[in-house]
Amino acid sequence: MSMSDTQNNPSLETIISLAKRRGFVFPGSEIYGGLAGTYDYGPLGVALKNNIKNMWWRMFVELRDDMYGVDAAILMNSKVWEASGHIAGFSDPLIECEKCKHRFRADQVQTKPKKDESGIVLENEEVWICEHCGTKNEMAEPRQFNMMFKTRAGASEDAPAVYLRPETAGGIFMNYKNIIDSVHPKLPFGIAQIGKAFRNEIAPRDFIFRLRELEQMEVEYFIKQEEWERAFEQWRVLMHEYAQAIGIKGSALHELEILPEDRAHYSERTIDFEFDYPFGRKELWGLAYRTDFDLSAHEKGSGVELKYLDEATKEKFTPHVIEPSLGVDRTVLAVLLSAYRKDDLGGGERTYLAFSPALAPVKAMVSPLLKNKPELVEKAREVYTVLKKDVPQIMWDDNGNIGKRYRRQDEIGTPFCITIDFDTLGEKPELKDTVTLRQRDTAVQTRMSITEAILSVRESIRGIPLT
Ligand code: GAP
Repeated sequence: MSMSDTQNNPSLETIISLAKRRGFVFPGSEIYGGLAGTYDYGPLGVALKNNIKNMWWRMFVELRDDMYGVDAAILMNSKVWEASGHIAGFSDPLIECEKCKHRFRADQVQTKPKKDESGIVLENEEVWICEHCGTKNEMAEPRQFNMMFKTRAGASEDAPAVYLRPETAGGIFMNYKNIIDSVHPKLPFGIAQIGKAFRNEIAPRDFIFRLRELEQMEVEYFIKQEEWERAFEQWRVLMHEYAQAIGIKGSALHELEILPEDRAHYSERTIDFEFDYPFGRKELWGLAYRTDFDLSAHEKGSGVELKYLDEATKEKFTPHVIEPSLGVDRTVLAVLLSAYRKDDLGGGERTYLAFSPALAPVKAMVSPLLKNKPELVEKAREVYTVLKKDVPQIMWDDNGNIGKRYRRQDEIGTPFCITIDFDTLGEKPELKDTVTLRQRDTAVQTRMSITEAILSVRESIRGIPLT
């Protein structure tokens, strides 16, 4: 535990250490000294991440009638990124205004000859004027602020360049026409995708907050222009509902209206959903009104018509787009930080993760009271086998004493522990075939029949997407 921890507000170091110790998240390529901006998810991390993604898919896609999923290729024709503005915006040598930090293509800034204090022009020296704030900047070496990873599609040196996608949105726009032609949806409708994205961040930092390899859950929701405000509001509300469903408290989530001059080139309105991380209030998710920028740009770039024909009115137009975009890794971090708890239990301090059963990587632990009593082990195995058929995300643990096992499960956020003891075997005949069911948050153990215990675990995750 770090010195800067308070009761329910862990430091980042505490979460990093717990994540590593318990098999949630490991630094990437660690035995070779790591690779900045990359992390690997371990057994519990994968399970948590899958539960987070499944919950998103359930709420943003399956529970709606107007959403369609895709899983597009990460590698795409480079023309996709030319049309979207990412190659121009991400790849050219850029120069940064020292005052407002806006970046410009180095070959497009307005330069002026530099003068000394008495107004005499200095030979071969120039200044440039920032178009955004008017500041006069000294000419500096342009820098590559290239955020896209570039590779080649083919073995030879002159094979065409391709990029690892910097956002999953590109793959969604590439499938807009496929969805229209194959599923014939009526407007408004949306396309959703979960997948990896890659950004060559200048300074990856803060654990899984700023990564070079990340995962996104994105929706592009196609609408008539006049419907944009209503649709924007609808998705804003759903993002709050999702936050609540995964245990992010409303008080830790803040909306930030992004000023026009700070918005991405395609956006006419953006809200950042910010979260209170230990390193400050920073972006968790984004919601943007992308207008018809992308479809118009891809129509122009490809020469293929990407308009929508309204069958009722026979009107043909380019749909506008609302885009809720959620980073999976930042969500995992916010969920871990939100779930962290410390309390005093029977005189001893304990740490636990108060995951909802929906998100808990392990729903229940099944355990014989003693490992060296074959009859207990056999009975516990029976219970484990029956429960596992219904609830696959359970764990067997017979290591160390029962108190230590409970603490271990608390620390990974397991909501229930079922213990098989001598009463289960009928030491007190009236208690035969009963077990104790321990609740994580209260640590209260209740004796009940095996059937009731199994039902309690099952009931707690009813309706939860497990796969
Ligand atoms: N398609 C829109 C888009 O990509 P963005 O604000 O650049 O918008 C969306 O990214 C979300 O992706 C962010 O809100 C964040 O959750 C996540 N994200 C972006 N860059 C990230 C990075 N370097 N590491 C981890 N997550 C990142």
